Amino acid sequence: MAKDLIKHRAEFQAALLAWFDVSRRRLPWREEPSVYRTVVSEFMLQQTQVKTMLPYFERWMAALPDFAALAAADEAAVLRLWEGLGYYSRARNLHRLGREIAAREELPRTPAEWRELPGIGPYTAAAVTSISFGAPVAVVDGNVVRILTRLTADARPFANSGEAAKALAATADAVLNHARPGDHNQAMMELGATVCTRHNPLCTVCPVREFCAGARSGEPEAYPRLAAKVIEQVSVIRGWCWRDGRLLLHRAAGTARRLAGQHELPTAEQLGQTDDAVMRGRLLAKKKRGITRFAITEFIHEVDAPAGAAATLGGELVWVSPAELGGITLSGPHRRWVTELLATERR
Ligand code: ADE
Repeated sequence: MAKDLIKHRAEFQAALLAWFDVSRRRLPWREEPSVYRTVVSEFMLQQTQVKTMLPYFERWMAALPDFAALAAADEAAVLRLWEGLGYYSRARNLHRLGREIAAREELPRTPAEWRELPGIGPYTAAAVTSISFGAPVAVVDGNVVRILTRLTADARPFANSGEAAKALAATADAVLNHARPGDHNQAMMELGATVCTRHNPLCTVCPVREFCAGARSGEPEAYPRLAAKVIEQVSVIRGWCWRDGRLLLHRAAGTARRLAGQHELPTAEQLGQTDDAVMRGRLLAKKKRGITRFAITEFIHEVDAPAGAAATLGGELVWVSPAELGGITLSGPHRRWVTELLATERR
C-alpha cells in the first residue's frame, strides 16, 4: 500500500520540497524574483512550455523591465514582443494589467484582489500570490491534476481539464504546505514538467513515490482519465498576392479574441473569393499545423489582387512591403511562411 497522501501530508510536503530545493530548474524569475517577473512568467507559461518561452521572457525583460515600462509601452510594441507566443489576448491583458498596477499606490496582495485584474483567473491568482506574497492557496494546473490523480489513483472520468481542476482543488488545498506555499506550488508544477510527465513518468527517481497509489498500481499513465479530444481535420485556402513590390496581408480587427491586430496571409474568404477560385492559382506551399483540437492543412495559392482591396468582415486587407514586415506582428507561423515564400516567389 502506498502511504495515504492526506494522512501523511507533512511527510509528503517535506519530500517534495527537499527535492525541489536541490533539483529545481534555475529559471530567471526564480533566480532574480520580483512580482513583475513572476506575473510575466505566469502569463507566458499559460499555454507555452518553459523551454519555448525562455528566450521571449529574456527579450521582454530587456525591453520592458518593470510595470512602469510596460504601462508606458504602446500596444504595437507589446504585441511585437509577444509575437510567436500566440493567444495575443494574453499580451493585451498583460498590458492592461501593467497599466492598472502602475496607476496604483500599492500592489494588490490577495488572490481576490488579483482576480479583479485583466487576464487573471484562479490559476494565475494562486500562482502569483503564493509565489510573491506567500498566500496559502494551491494552484491546480494540468501538472497538478496529473500528479494528484496519480498519487491517489483517482479513476474518476473527467470531461476536460477544467473539470478535473475543479474536482481536485480540495485535494490540492489539503496537501498545500502553508509554510512555503509558493515553493510548494512551483515544486508541484516542476514535478509534473520533469518527472511525473504525461508519458513515461520517471517513477524510479520520483521523490514522492512512496505516497503514490498510481505508481503502485503499475499503471500511472492511466491517470488522469480525461475524455479523449476529438481531432477535427480542416483545410484553409490562402492567397499569395504580390504586386508592385508589396504583399497583401489580412489584419484582424483589434477586438478579435485570438488574433487581435495580427497579420496573416489572407484566406479566400478574406479576399472576397471562393476557395475554388483561389485554388485555381498555382499552389506555392502546403503547411500543416495543429491549433487546439483542429488539425489544419493550409494551402497557399498564387492569386491576382482583388479589385479594390476591400475591407473584409472583422478586419482589413493591407499591402506591406518586405521592409515593413519587421515592424508589424504576424501571427504564429505566418512570418516563417512569408519569409520562406518571399525568398522563392518574389518576382
Ligand atoms: N508553470 C507555470 N508556472 C510555473 C512555475 N512557476 N514553475 C514551473 N512551472 C510553471
